[in-house]
Amino acid sequence: MLDPVVAIDRLRAAFRGPDRHRTLHAKGRFYAGTFTATPEAAALGRAGHLTGEPVPVLVRWSNAGGDAEVPDKAPDIRGMAVKFRLPDGTETDLLGQTARRFPTDSPEEFVAMTEASRKPVLVPLFMLRHPRMAGAMLDGLRSKAVASHASFTQPTYYPIHAYGWRDADDHLSWVRYRFVAQHAGPPSGTYAGRDRLFEEMTARLANGPVRFDVRLLVAGDGDDPHSAVSVWKHARELLGGTIEVTGELPDQDPVVFDPARVVDGIELSDDPILRYRPSAYSESIDRRT
Ligand code: HEM
Repeated sequence: MLDPVVAIDRLRAAFRGPDRHRTLHAKGRFYAGTFTATPEAAALGRAGHLTGEPVPVLVRWSNAGGDAEVPDKAPDIRGMAVKFRLPDGTETDLLGQTARRFPTDSPEEFVAMTEASRKPVLVPLFMLRHPRMAGAMLDGLRSKAVASHASFTQPTYYPIHAYGWRDADDHLSWVRYRFVAQHAGPPSGTYAGRDRLFEEMTARLANGPVRFDVRLLVAGDGDDPHSAVSVWKHARELLGGTIEVTGELPDQDPVVFDPARVVDGIELSDDPILRYRPSAYSESIDRRT
């Protein structure tokens, strides 16, 4: 497995970002809100944020690149990280980004793809050399996961990995997530500055909360939860709750969103990318704090 120190060295070299920033998703801002689960989610999972009572959330919207100086109009993947704060003081995180399919189960291939994406002329060559990844990479282009978005409410966000949900009887379901804006209408004004996505969000929030549906895909027979690349063919979809974002916060760093931070009632799969990520994130956090 790729040494996380080497992974962070290579990703930082690709973007030449200064040490004090996140290695990826360097440019972002923090927002406050709540999450309220539906009765269907409460029936499926016993975790403390799924009772149906609103719990506070911390949201960070970001551009995926490792260079915080790039203007928002540059085509990129966007991130929406959400930290759920439970009444008992524990926390659990979901990190969504705009690609609905992840191209590989190998950290080495993810880092190589990120390096190649810094020189767009090399991307077709990379896909020829990694034909198993090409389908998901082309899907990302076709579905506008990588785009010059006009609002953070425009794309859908996918946390990719499956998490195990235990209900009150200890029955286990495997669940994937999607964050879908309820009002993904046109941008609220015209913004042309280098921070146009954040300016647009400020204007939108001045008119009231911004709401995202948390849609759940519950695995059916034969759907593999232990891989970031598996496509589920038998899943059922339901509304799991709503994230209501109410306002921007001052910088919260050094806050950490960790995809492996779970609470009682939520379990990690054996997905190799999910299992690898905390080691790479720790290395990145060491360098930015
Ligand atoms: C091997 C695969 C991956 C590697 C090596 C990797 C690496 C990183 C690193 C180093 C950071 C910065 C961490 C920090 O300093 O706090 C980061 C942030 C982030 N990653 Fe990943 N990542 C991977 C896969 C993914 C996947 C599958 C997703 C989405 C499903 C994702 C979504 C995000 C998001 C949203 C952030 C920003 C979090 C924030 O706003 O603080 N990453 N990633």
